Amino acid sequence: MKHTGLILGIESSCDETAAAVVERGARTLSSVVASQIATHARYGGVVPELASREHLRAIVPVVETALKEAGVALADLDAIAVTSGPGLAGALLVGITYAKALAFAEELPVIAVNHLEGHIHAVLLDERQQQAEMNPTLAAKTTTPRGWGTQLEMGSFEDEPALALVVSGGHTHLYLTRPQKYGWTYRLIGRTLDDAAGEAYDKVAKLLGLGYPGGPWIDALATFGNPKTVPFTFAQIKHKVHLHGKAPRTKAAKTAPIADLDPRFLFSFSGIKTAVLRYVELNNLREGVAERSAKAMAGAKLPKTKEDALALCPQPVLDLIASFQYAVVGNLLKKTFAAAESLGAKHVLVTGGVAANRELRERFTAEAARRGVSIAFPTLALSTDNAAMIAAAAWPRFQAGEFAESALSADPSLALGV
Ligand code: KG4
Ligand code: ZN
Repeated sequence: MKHTGLILGIESSCDETAAAVVERGARTLSSVVASQIATHARYGGVVPELASREHLRAIVPVVETALKEAGVALADLDAIAVTSGPGLAGALLVGITYAKALAFAEELPVIAVNHLEGHIHAVLLDERQQQAEMNPTLAAKTTTPRGWGTQLEMGSFEDEPALALVVSGGHTHLYLTRPQKYGWTYRLIGRTLDDAAGEAYDKVAKLLGLGYPGGPWIDALATFGNPKTVPFTFAQIKHKVHLHGKAPRTKAAKTAPIADLDPRFLFSFSGIKTAVLRYVELNNLREGVAERSAKAMAGAKLPKTKEDALALCPQPVLDLIASFQYAVVGNLLKKTFAAAESLGAKHVLVTGGVAANRELRERFTAEAARRGVSIAFPTLALSTDNAAMIAAAAWPRFQAGEFAESALSADPSLALGV
């Protein structure tokens, strides 16, 4: 062991091949993300077989670039961290196999990281980086078990229980995080019974002929619509429904048992997608879908002005988009803060691709201020999939000596916490 504190992170669970070098879970030396958006855009969603093939193509140059940008050789590393699940089996295997091969050659330990834990650590990494920039002397001296953050005067989610919402294309999960000697423990509080919030964004964008992934398009267009036009509602989830096996069998639904969860903290986003479709049909809003799809596939830029937006969609479509986003963000907000209140959590973290959403950040920030709780999001680059969050999440495991067995394999439905 070299005790450099340097961990190489590798992430390949979905449609991004990423590698990063992070020092002591707190300082990002490099973070490289090769996106496969162009490959999947024409299908309006991730095609697993294509994803594996693209990962195979990208993994070696991405890792080499991450090491080069960090100015680090493999021999300088303390460990290699890799996402072991949840995600697409074939995609995960590319990262795991490469991480194991590199580790074997360099006699380094491998640390298996849960992708969801990675998203949560993206917030922690940002927090530590900001603190270190503000106080470099303190940061350089600190060698506490949980990294730099514990010696900083934050009184933050690093030291107290926090409610974390992980909201992305594959997940909508609520966790109660608690600090322990090394890192955190996680208790599952709620999650989606069917589609993830990001999946709803992507499906609605697809049916409106917008580009893939849908989140950034809807985010950009919603600004120009009236969110009060279509009053989308969410059915209350009752115990009976989710306890009697009626939940659709999706990737997300398989990840953890739901019987013990409070139905107030369960989500369901498949209904709103159908409601949008019905609204489109009843109001004859199909026109222009083909042209928009063609533009999106040709790589059209996200609209910045009202004129750009109107050139793409008529006002009723903009109003529908704004109403959809208003409803989804409102639902996420209501359940997250209700869970925080019910559990007495004074800190709320929101992370994952959908946490990049402008309206979500504004409304969560305002609600947190109203309730007197702290709120934290990762920077935009760390909200969506990346490997810096994987290397950061591995740091407490490294300190605790939790290394993966040589038989480590992909676990597509790996759950986090209990
Ligand atoms: O975390 P991520 O990169 O991958 C998963 O782990 O799923 O999240 C991708 C998801 C996609 O569904 C995408 O549409 C959504 O995050 N997303 C957004 C925004 N940017 C990305 N959703 C809403 N607003 C955004 N600005
Ligand atoms: Zn993710």
